[in-house]
Amino acid sequence: MAMIAMANSRSAAAFDGDFAAWMGSVQARMESVLARLLPGADTPPERLHRAMRYAALEGGKRVRPLLCFAAGEVVGASTARLEIAAAAVEMIHAYSLVHDDMPCMDDDVLRRGKPTVHVEYDQATALLVGDALQSLAFQLLAEKKLTDDPAVQVEMLRSMALAAGSRGMAGGQAIDIESTGKSLALPELEFMHIRKTGALIRAAVMLGAGCGDALEEREREKLDHFAKSIGLAFQVVDDVLDAEASTATLGKTAGKDQKQGKSTYVSAMGIIAAREFAEELRNEAHDALAGFGGRASRLAKLGDFIVLRKF
Ligand code: IPE
Ligand code: IPE
Ligand code: MG
Ligand code: MG
Ligand code: MG
Repeated sequence: MAMIAMANSRSAAAFDGDFAAWMGSVQARMESVLARLLPGADTPPERLHRAMRYAALEGGKRVRPLLCFAAGEVVGASTARLEIAAAAVEMIHAYSLVHDDMPCMDDDVLRRGKPTVHVEYDQATALLVGDALQSLAFQLLAEKKLTDDPAVQVEMLRSMALAAGSRGMAGGQAIDIESTGKSLALPELEFMHIRKTGALIRAAVMLGAGCGDALEEREREKLDHFAKSIGLAFQVVDDVLDAEASTATLGKTAGKDQKQGKSTYVSAMGIIAAREFAEELRNEAHDALAGFGGRASRLAKLGDFIVLRKF
């Protein structure tokens, strides 16, 4: 719970009490939902299940679940449905972190303030934790009722699969690895970031929106525009924080991108311009939500949180 408590206190400093309390309540809810949905630590194979719980519980800002819940507010979605959608996205995110940290990728030893899964367990277990978290996410999306129209649910599953796969997160990660040691031009950098991080953020928003009343096509496009902008902004800010923040604040090793020769918005344009770009994306995200009024106020504040966060 340490990271979650930290997230609450930090967000409380920057955001009004009601929003901070809402964030805290969704974070706490997700902790218990994930604890319930993940296989028990005593269920065989115990070591794999313990490692899955280690990877997914007690840590992280839970930004994707927060986006899912906030998008659900736009469409009047029920909490019970949003919990499942949010847990599925968070499991896929947690899997991506476990694999991202492995020696064959970013070779990190610290994540969410704890030793990474391959350090705490071993590499084979880390690989399987990722595989199994992803499978469990899709199992949940297939077997729980997320929407009244089964055709809509199949479409939700399909877009989640696209977001996680070679045209989405996994593809972005492939480009990240291929381009390590090279310096990507801005269009390629954007192409990579939209996929490795943006795709899952976008899926979180659209999955939440799928759990409630159907949106008009124009509204869907607006929401998607918000999600794309904030998804790219998220990784731009992650690049800035890697260069600017401390390991203690981040709960993961700071300063690694430069050391490893990663192509980032900081390496491409410097910290100040990268922050300005994130700010432009925040404005774009706000503009996209203009027509929704109060229904999207939490989503708009999450856009602020994503760009202004310090960790
Ligand atoms: C880190 O994501 C990895 C990226 C996609 C940039 P988060 O910053 O959301 O990590 P947690 O979930 O809060 O640990
Ligand atoms: C990771 O990007 C994106 C993922 C799909 C996990 P980073 O490699 O920059 O994430 P951190 O900085 O290790 O969290
Ligand atoms: Mg990486
Ligand atoms: Mg990494
Ligand atoms: Mg990073």
